[in-house]
Amino acid sequence: MTGGGIENERYDIRTFIAGKGGIDMEQYKDQLVKLIFDGFPEYYHTEDDAKADVEWELRESLGAIAIALDRDKVVGYGTLHPLHEGYDEILFGDAYVLPSYRRRGMYTQLVDVRLRIAREWGAKSVEIMTDGTNVAIPSLIERRGFKFTGILPGNYRKEL
Ligand SMILES: CC(C)(COP(=O)(O)OP(=O)(O)OC[C@H]1O[C@@H](n2cnc3c(N)ncnc32)[C@H](O)[C@@H]1OP(=O)(O)O)[C@@H](O)C(=O)NCCC(=O)NCCS
Repeated sequence: MTGGGIENERYDIRTFIAGKGGIDMEQYKDQLVKLIFDGFPEYYHTEDDAKADVEWELRESLGAIAIALDRDKVVGYGTLHPLHEGYDEILFGDAYVLPSYRRRGMYTQLVDVRLRIAREWGAKSVEIMTDGTNVAIPSLIERRGFKFTGILPGNYRKEL
């Protein structure tokens, strides 16, 4: 567990924070590439595309990754990034939970862990862009206090 203060903290979720460290992502990188390649087939045409994204997250991003583990197996993940220079406004990036692990609160915990990182960064707000078609996301993020911005379809925001 990443420790402290989160309601329903049930899963082993570890974090990598660019520039600050955290878990050694080298040992999980290949699994993460496979997870997103299998998980977002409409987005990644080749496994190398997925690999390039993961390597960017790990090397050049100013953000962070939270991965959910079942023993040593990566079964879910979520990212977050500053929207502009500085850490006032944070965007939650992609998130994914393996189908056989769904409906057990794993994504909710990935949201909670990322909210905690955003607060530690001193963020004032967090946004999520959903693709607007995922029925699951609005109900669970509204439960965590996000509100539809009314600007773009699928765009939700939470003031911290
Ligand atoms: C969306 C997704 C991340 C949810 O992961 P999850 O771990 O199952 O989510 P949780 O268990 O935390 O769900 C919490 C709540 O979300 C809602 N929810 C989750 N899946 C749902 C579904 N298929 N249909 C309707 N509501 C759903 C429910 O309100 C649920 O609470 P409940 O189980 O008490 O009813 C997962 O389905 C997924 O990876 N989908 C494909 C990728 C994707 O859409 N990523 C997000 C955009 S980047």
